Amino acid sequence: MSAPSVPGKLGRLVVVGLGLIGGSFAKGMREKGLFTEVVGVDLDAESRRLAVELGVVDRCETDLAAACQGAAVIQLAVPILAMEKLLAQLAGFELGDALLTDVGSAKGNVVRAARLAFSSDNPRFVPGHPIAGSEQSGVEAANAGLFRRHKVILTPLEATDPAALALIDGLWRALGADVEHMQVEHHDQVLAATSHLPHLLAFTLVDSLAKRSENLEIFRYAAGGFRDFTRIAGSDPVMWHDIFLANREAVLRTLDAFRDDLDALRDAVDAGDGHQLLGVFTRARVAREHFSKILARRAYVDAMHSNDLIFLANPGGSLSGRIRVPGDKSISHRSIMLGSLAEGTTEVEGFLEGEDALATLQAFRDMGVVIEGPHHGRVTIHGVGLNGLKPPPGPLYVGNSGTSMRLLSGLLAGQPFDTTLTGDASLSKRPMNRVAKPLREMGAIIETGPEGRPPLTIKGGQRLTGMHYEMPMASAQVKSCLLLAGLYAAGDTAVTEPAPTRDHTERMLRGFGYPVTVDGNVASVESGHKLSATHIEVPADISSAAFFLVAASIAEGSELVLEHVGINPTRTGVIDILKLMGADISLENQREVGGEPVADLRVRAAKLKGIDIPEDLVPLAIDEFPVLFVAAACAEGRTVLRGAEELRVKESDRIQVMADGLLALGVKAEPTPDGIIIEGGPIGGGEVWSHGDHRIAMSFSVASLRASAPIRIHDCANVATSFPNFLGLAAQAGIRVAEEGKA
Ligand code: S3P
Repeated sequence: MSAPSVPGKLGRLVVVGLGLIGGSFAKGMREKGLFTEVVGVDLDAESRRLAVELGVVDRCETDLAAACQGAAVIQLAVPILAMEKLLAQLAGFELGDALLTDVGSAKGNVVRAARLAFSSDNPRFVPGHPIAGSEQSGVEAANAGLFRRHKVILTPLEATDPAALALIDGLWRALGADVEHMQVEHHDQVLAATSHLPHLLAFTLVDSLAKRSENLEIFRYAAGGFRDFTRIAGSDPVMWHDIFLANREAVLRTLDAFRDDLDALRDAVDAGDGHQLLGVFTRARVAREHFSKILARRAYVDAMHSNDLIFLANPGGSLSGRIRVPGDKSISHRSIMLGSLAEGTTEVEGFLEGEDALATLQAFRDMGVVIEGPHHGRVTIHGVGLNGLKPPPGPLYVGNSGTSMRLLSGLLAGQPFDTTLTGDASLSKRPMNRVAKPLREMGAIIETGPEGRPPLTIKGGQRLTGMHYEMPMASAQVKSCLLLAGLYAAGDTAVTEPAPTRDHTERMLRGFGYPVTVDGNVASVESGHKLSATHIEVPADISSAAFFLVAASIAEGSELVLEHVGINPTRTGVIDILKLMGADISLENQREVGGEPVADLRVRAAKLKGIDIPEDLVPLAIDEFPVLFVAAACAEGRTVLRGAEELRVKESDRIQVMADGLLALGVKAEPTPDGIIIEGGPIGGGEVWSHGDHRIAMSFSVASLRASAPIRIHDCANVATSFPNFLGLAAQAGIRVAEEGKA
């Protein structure tokens, strides 16, 4: 938030209309002392008397012209339908340099009235709207802190003087408001949907029920739902009557759209279409959760003035017991994708409820798939078949998740509708040409942002043709993307990989009854088959288990069992590398669950030694290197990694970010273009930055087991992308890490 830009002391502030909003603005300004005087104008004598008595204003004027003569700023805080008359009056005065601003809840009609009054756009008029109502009203409720941490929307016009805008913006910020600028029409449309429509519904519902003959019964038994839904029907009727008349067009647009949705729901009830109802309700529920989260995060951000979630890891400790880490991220993504494209209902167990996999889930909900859950890792997907997806209502936002974006791009290239895929700041920096380029060769039309970065815009309705693609890098995401596109392409689609990468897509396609051919390092599919719903049990994620494999290895006296971990041979590089370093890891109770091998992993502390990491293991441990670097720091001697340039384009540049952090803790770490050289030795305490990368944050948490002092790890919020309960499980197993400021 930038500092308020209010120059020195200003002259007189005139506030016309001493209600809750006008009074609170006047009082706040008076307390801030930004004006030489604050003068109130109101038609009601009692309000004028109270305003002076309560210290809301310095004095009141009954003559509007006299009050405004020579004023610096005039704030119009009268009811919205009174604005027109007031503006016409003001236009007749000699206003000199005075700036005009207002607080009306709809902006189009105020701007029209101002245009009429001044016969053109007045450069010194800055329309505004503080979103800070309250059940209270009147000057007696005036509160100087009313706008703190509330949004104020300014809707400047093309003619508005930038200096005038900056000054009004600065005044609101001085009151602690969070100021945004918006176009007039946009403001009115947004408010019609988020505020005006809900009020209209609440008023009608109460009125409609109250009119009925059995109203007493209804109100006697009206409990939680009725009360919650209708709270706002207690708002000021006159004010709301004004607002609906003032924002007529926008309200009608949003009301008509709502009426259509309501009609569709009525038809579904009439037809006994439970599927349709479930679709609306599940989507609404997650949307509501999503909004609450965004709002909660904003409150957190507001309170902390940053979004830096800090982990504090205290030195020492050892691990013991048995734990089960959350479900595999790669398999969770694929279960939603294939379950959605299947015919029939797929049940998933052990689904990872982390933000990345949830982003995939939400994307399919946005494309019309009804998905129940997740609830304790259980998800029910009502598949729509390969050709049953619907156009999403807007861009598909996949947050931090590279897997969602890359795999979805293949699948979306084969749909009849257009889509746009967007992501967060980290994902927006990651390379997408690796999928866009081969997909274009298959006939897809895809646009990327500059330098092949997101967003991806995918044109629907293209005829794809299968091809044989030699992947230049070992990437399961690229391979999976092309195989998914291959489900929609004419003929065969084959992908050759330069080294083995995770094969969950191939295995799961088969699990859904879709034929896949794997011949050496070539995987291929042909279109024309279908997916049939199945049951999926997601094993625990070896990439999450890896933090504990290293933790128990480096912390003296540890013995830990990690239950039900997926040990697909394309994922077990971390076990092989740790064993080469001397780790004591054994696989117990090996079994196969739903086409994927799993085992319980027992790990005991061991003396580790530095090694040259065999390059063929790199793709098999690609996500585990951050924590393997911590193992290397605790090993005796030097560890060298080569052939891992891919690490530079993960959620962060994992080579550089880990090297920086290790150096900060006193470990000798030398980054190279395609790897790193680490000398084992003592680990100190200090501050490290995870750059929004979940695996970096968790790796440095593990390092604390061998550190001599606390490690403060910045920017840890994204741990929730892959390992929602990391802190809980870490504490349970014996790692002394917690959110800073919390026990
Ligand atoms: C993944 C593949 C890997 C991995 C990522 C998940 C997948 O990426 O790093 O976390 O689920 O296919 P690349 O295929 O780009 O190496």
